[in-house]
Amino acid sequence: MKNLKDLAIFGGDPMFDTPLHVGRPNIPDRKLLLDRINDILDRRWLTNNGPYVREFEKKIAEFTGARHCICMCNGTVALEIAIRAAGLTGEVIVPSFTFIATAHALQWQEITPVFCDIDPKTHNLDPDCVEKLITPRTTGIIGVHLWGRPCNVERLQEIARGRGLKLLFDAAHAFGCSCKGRMVGNFGNAEVFSFHATKFLNSFEGGAIVTNDDELAGKIRLMKNFGFAGLDRVIYIGTNGKMNEISAAAGLTGLEGIDEVVTANRRNYRQYRRQLGGLPGFGIMAYNEKERCNYQYVVIVIDERTVGISRDDLVRILREENVLARRYFFPGAHKMEPYRSYFPNAGILLPETERLAGQIISLPTGTSVDKEDITKVCELIKFMAANGKKISRMLAAVGPS
Ligand SMILES: Cc1ncc(COP(=O)(O)O)c(C=O)c1O
Repeated sequence: MKNLKDLAIFGGDPMFDTPLHVGRPNIPDRKLLLDRINDILDRRWLTNNGPYVREFEKKIAEFTGARHCICMCNGTVALEIAIRAAGLTGEVIVPSFTFIATAHALQWQEITPVFCDIDPKTHNLDPDCVEKLITPRTTGIIGVHLWGRPCNVERLQEIARGRGLKLLFDAAHAFGCSCKGRMVGNFGNAEVFSFHATKFLNSFEGGAIVTNDDELAGKIRLMKNFGFAGLDRVIYIGTNGKMNEISAAAGLTGLEGIDEVVTANRRNYRQYRRQLGGLPGFGIMAYNEKERCNYQYVVIVIDERTVGISRDDLVRILREENVLARRYFFPGAHKMEPYRSYFPNAGILLPETERLAGQIISLPTGTSVDKEDITKVCELIKFMAANGKKISRMLAAVGPS
């Protein structure tokens, strides 16, 4: 790219003919998956704790080293059930800088999500802020291992233990990640994974609760199956959280190919780092490579004053080029309904959340993105960085999108 007029937003051809997505699903070994689906059809056991669900649960428990894994139809229902089974009520402390499902899983059960600020270095709950938000109504804390980078689990466990609170983790991003050598899945009272299509490991739709607590696991198993404790015996209020057999087969097949996904993600992440590292105003979020990481997200933090273009304009230009970058998790859960109306002043206590939500871009990665794609995306970003102020002036003339 040599000329500003070559940018698609100013009338040039888009850099990519087809869109480059942030989280295009990873497809497992087709033959193996189709064989398993045929097996399911032959057996006519489609759901209700079938053999593939049980095998998937066993493999996840082995993989994480946790005692129990209970698979679910999706991560949101898994969160709702974990919250209910752990006995949370009243107020629960959560980050606002997360996908909305973390807060919704509480509010859905009329539990108040109390939004807590994040540590700008980790993008995860700031334990000092958590302590300040505890009231007599607080029953628990839900940490989110954002981007697969684990929370400060030690401090959160200390706080929860000291104050008699339950501690759950929304580990939707963190399957396959470790913290101080221990796999995610072993922290707090329970941890929740999402196996949504866009996640590191997918089962089309799906999720799981992983825990080392036998009693809690028993309760969760009943709750996800309407509370049935026997054929005609219901002992709790329950819901339908069951994973079906095809999802379990997809998850199992994906799990068997997980090393290839890590390899592709790590290669992409390192290439972005090599090509964009040191570019003023573009901070690439780093993984701690001494731990196990899934490298599922390539996140850059934009310093608008240095770059000369706002984060939103950068995203707009990238999208015109068919690079479908995302502003995860803009604008923060506290600025979405119903929380925006319930807590109009929540932002006062969330300065880091609000700052980061305005600075972040998530870039395309995954097994469908190759070296050449990333080289082109990085060239585009470098071009924008070199011409920031000029581009901003031209954009002002184009007007808002
Ligand atoms: C942090 C976080 N929590 C919860 C969820 C909800 O998971 P699911 O889509 O499987 O319901 C997601 C993603 O979808 C997520 O990113």
